Amino acid sequence: MKKILVVATGNPGKLKEMQNYLADSGWELTLKPEDFEVEETGVTFAENACLKAAAVAKITGNWAIADDSGLMVNALNGQPGVYSARYGNTDVERIARLLRELGDNKNRQARFVCAIAIANPQGEIVIESEGVCQGEILFASTGDQGFGYDPIFYVPEQKLTFAQMSPEMKKSISHRGNAIKALLPQLITI
Ligand code: IMP
Repeated sequence: MKKILVVATGNPGKLKEMQNYLADSGWELTLKPEDFEVEETGVTFAENACLKAAAVAKITGNWAIADDSGLMVNALNGQPGVYSARYGNTDVERIARLLRELGDNKNRQARFVCAIAIANPQGEIVIESEGVCQGEILFASTGDQGFGYDPIFYVPEQKLTFAQMSPEMKKSISHRGNAIKALLPQLITI
């Protein structure tokens, strides 16, 4: 019988993405209760992932997994960071704000970070993992795949933005892919 792992998100898209990553892990993934919201009050990605995983595990009495991710731009002292989702009302607004704040700064270095935490049914964090993907911020959007800041995030090794990559290519090098790869060996031993 498969063990239940509750994904601390109300977003079916995120559940599907996690299912795709953890297809062979031996766990059955389900969405958290719709009316249970956890506020992201942490100042780091890891803090937010841990508080979401712990809260959802406690309320459901099941194992729970949570992630928190965002974009850190060197010349903006790591912003938008944990505020990536709250940097504007739409992806277009968020990208416009970031490009405005960066202006013609020559330092375009940035990285996507994803922290993932897994809590046991008692709400104790038993696995933590962090994945990073290094890149550069372009001066204008390029590509139409993906979501969020993908069109302005250029990965020099691939000579493509995230928004120009196939989902498979993005998965193989992305911060989320790297965070999942790092925790998978531990998850399958539980
Ligand atoms: P959360 O992890 O769901 O709280 O959202 C993090 C925010 O960071 C998203 O709303 C996006 O704006 C941004 N973000 C995280 N990962 C990616 C990615 O792979 N591509 C583009 N934007 C991302």
